Amino acid sequence: MNQPGRNFMSLQFAARSENESFARVTVAAFVSQLDPTMDEITDLKTVISEAVTNSIIHGYDGDPEGIVTISALIEGDTVTLSVEDKGRGIEDVELAKQPLFTSKPELERSGMGFTIMENFMDEFEVSSELGGGTSIRMKKRIVSKTALYN
Ligand SMILES: Nc1ncnc2c1ncn2[C@@H]1O[C@H](COP(=O)(O)OP(=O)(O)O)[C@@H](O)[C@H]1O
Ligand SMILES: [Mg+2]
Repeated sequence: MNQPGRNFMSLQFAARSENESFARVTVAAFVSQLDPTMDEITDLKTVISEAVTNSIIHGYDGDPEGIVTISALIEGDTVTLSVEDKGRGIEDVELAKQPLFTSKPELERSGMGFTIMENFMDEFEVSSELGGGTSIRMKKRIVSKTALYN
């Protein structure tokens, strides 16, 4: 129950692009208790942005009635982030994860969202059900500044 070094937050918001920066800043603020480096904060903000944007534009196709849920779990020096939607789901997850694959080339998407998440985090998992939604889970160990400079 009250294990040392364990903390958790969860947040739901409307699938509107205005909320992308809200999600990014909230996660950065929560994780700041681990004393991350600027680079680590930038990586976490980037992956949250990519995953939340995917839920909004792909999962819900821009429908602001959709709800995005994000959560962050801190266990010791490791943070686990999750981003979930109840949108359209992904037909072929392996294909979707390929670098440069995008189902919306007309929106000038880069097709690099999943590749960025995979590269910036230590662990990365996608589970998705067609018509049921998508859930992304990613984990990263934070090498705190305190540890670096002591
Ligand atoms: N939450 C989601 N719901 C439905 N489809 C998704 C979701 N996230 C990603 N996808 C699918 O995976 C593809 C690849 O995603 P990504 O690598 O972020 O590239 P991009 O967003 O630039 O298309 C998307 O084009 C889309 O088809
Ligand atoms: Mg994307």
